[in-house]
Amino acid sequence: MVSVWKLFASFAVAGFAAPSCRPPATLTLPKVGGGTELPPPPPTLTLKKIALGHGIQNYTCESTTGEAKATGALAVLYDVTSLHPSATGRNTLSPIVWNKLPSTLLWTNPLPLNPLPTVHFGADPANPFPEPSSLRLHSLPEIKFLGHHFFDAQSTPTFDLKIANLKASVAKTGAVDAPRNADKGILGTGAVSWLELGDNGKGLSQGVSKVYRVITAGGVAQKCEVAGAGAQSVPYTTYYWFYG
Ligand SMILES: *[C@@H]1O[C@H](CO)[C@@H](O)[C@H](O)[C@H]1NC(C)=O
Repeated sequence: MVSVWKLFASFAVAGFAAPSCRPPATLTLPKVGGGTELPPPPPTLTLKKIALGHGIQNYTCESTTGEAKATGALAVLYDVTSLHPSATGRNTLSPIVWNKLPSTLLWTNPLPLNPLPTVHFGADPANPFPEPSSLRLHSLPEIKFLGHHFFDAQSTPTFDLKIANLKASVAKTGAVDAPRNADKGILGTGAVSWLELGDNGKGLSQGVSKVYRVITAGGVAQKCEVAGAGAQSVPYTTYYWFYG
């Protein structure tokens, strides 16, 4: 109740429309807690954006007995930088609401992707993303569209933050398991690991050299004997922190 009250109180004061033009304050990347952590961002880099992502993790099963193999991901990204509990400005959320926001989004809103009727939670390969639109979530003010996460034609994980003129073409440089109490997602399969992603040196990034995936919900593959052989798409949400 306290957190909900704080939510209302802070927005009542702020007025919903005013965007924050100030650069993000020094915000601290969350930790998994109680175990190995991702390497912290180098102090030479600054935080550019925090995105809330909502989409799917793709997998294939080569057989009904093998492990599901990750093949890619698609997500719509929303700009939540000014909502971080320690951000400057008046739109900030309480830590409780902030830490639950990916999970809240996963369970509250439908996937923001054009569906593929033949695949459960699938997205249309020809045209996966609908027209950009803001995120509406409970009583929160409108959260602005920021960009897309997808795998490019070379299967390279890519973040295109169109609205902020930032781009990241990355490779995985670190991973740790999500906390035990993380949201296991709509299929109950588990929360995907937290990641450190670094610029891959292909010269495609713009203003971003590191991306962290933290506070994940859902996204882990179903077992191949459950999924059957073939492709599967698993809904997930997460925060992505962009540094450059
Ligand atoms: C993910 O799977 C969907 C089908 O659900 C497909 O449309 C999309 O192209 C796939 N994307 C990647 C990057 O694997």
